[in-house]
Amino acid sequence: MKASEVAEGIFRLSANIGSDMLFEGIWPLPHGASMNSYLVKGRDVAIIDGVCDWDGVPETLYAQFDQLGVKAENIRYVVINHTEPDHTGWLRSFSSMTRDFEVLITAKGLELAKAFYDLDVPCRVVKSGDSVDLGNGKKLVFEETPNVHWPDTMVTFEPSTGTLMCCDAFGTFGAVDQALYDDQLDETRLDFFEREALRYYANIVGRFSMAVDKAIAKVRALDVRIVAPGHGPVWRRDPDRIVNLYERLASYAKGPARPLVTVLWGSMYGNTQKTVTPLLEGIADEGVETVAYQVPQSHIGDILASAWESTGIALAMPTYEFQMFPPMAAILDELGRKHVKGKLAVRTGSFGWSGGAQRELDEIVQRQKMNWRFLDPVEFRGAPGTDDLKLVRQRGRELARQVRETALA
Ligand SMILES: Cc1cc2nc3c(=O)[nH]c(=O)nc-3n(C[C@H](O)[C@H](O)[C@H](O)COP(=O)(O)O)c2cc1C
Ligand SMILES: [Fe+2]
Ligand SMILES: [Fe+2]
Repeated sequence: MKASEVAEGIFRLSANIGSDMLFEGIWPLPHGASMNSYLVKGRDVAIIDGVCDWDGVPETLYAQFDQLGVKAENIRYVVINHTEPDHTGWLRSFSSMTRDFEVLITAKGLELAKAFYDLDVPCRVVKSGDSVDLGNGKKLVFEETPNVHWPDTMVTFEPSTGTLMCCDAFGTFGAVDQALYDDQLDETRLDFFEREALRYYANIVGRFSMAVDKAIAKVRALDVRIVAPGHGPVWRRDPDRIVNLYERLASYAKGPARPLVTVLWGSMYGNTQKTVTPLLEGIADEGVETVAYQVPQSHIGDILASAWESTGIALAMPTYEFQMFPPMAAILDELGRKHVKGKLAVRTGSFGWSGGAQRELDEIVQRQKMNWRFLDPVEFRGAPGTDDLKLVRQRGRELARQVRETALA
């Protein structure tokens, strides 16, 4: 990876992690991810955010210092927008190379940094509106954006170029190649990163959508001409594109989203499975799009992204040992934890003796305060009969009609 110039005096340094890694130890990265760091050169040099400490990753950053003719000891300020180790892991090795720098960080960030790293260097707490003059017309202005994604987060703004270095905010999954800027990406690649933004958003920051809304309001008050996040491409031809996308994704937290139904199904012996086709057909009868995921074969990372952008969720699962088919219970619990709320929903499923899946479904939805609005379920003993299947198709149509009426334009 090569260092590149974002704007006059501002440079982007990036490291990719591959598809063999799980982000946060959970989320698959089928297309990898990037961690971006920014170097601002005034009379003094500042680095904003960094990379993780995984094998060889900090070294890719140091090689990019070399490309820019910057030595570790030339760096006067290290700005920590967010203490999560994907952006700060490198600090251990960096502070073994030089101790002649000052950390700029929020009060909450300092608390966390002390807990994670034994940073024996000067640290200055900054808050919204504080700034640091780097000389030669370059200045860094800080704005706290708590809870995008951790309580410590802030963004760093460079007014002369209008560059917003915003770490997790406006980030996307997807490794980057030498095309690092929206002005170097064609529509297909931009679409790709927007899909990766959805997965990143739903998996990592969706839970904090209220904080995202507040951060967007703060960002809109600045004269932002370049959005330079900690993950994914830099947006400088059309910075509004990613901010608007984030605003839309944050609004999905209320429930209404795209006119789309995510169908989640699991079945042991194929009885519940027989309802999947009529469900899909019923929804299609009303011209609404569907995406189906079999459970447990599908990964929660993909399911979560799909559920986030769906207005409707259709569930099909049987009873298992007096409760719900366990992998489906785990998925629903996770959707609840990640605040997939306010969806329109329906459930079908088979049981053998006394049932129990429905009870657990009600319990999860209530406990997680998911506020999903359910149509009457279609539950049957053993194999579904013709009438059951007809009813399932009808429920599919009802759900799709409601989805069409409720979805955002
Ligand atoms: C391991 C196992 C546990 C089950 N536990 C229950 C149960 O507690 N209550 C019940 O009503 N049926 C129970 N059943 C019956 C299933 O719900 C029934 O076989 C259903 O038709 C399975 O649907 P499927 O073919 O879609 O997996 C159980 C079945 C299996 C194989
Ligand atoms: Fe983070
Ligand atoms: Fe991050």
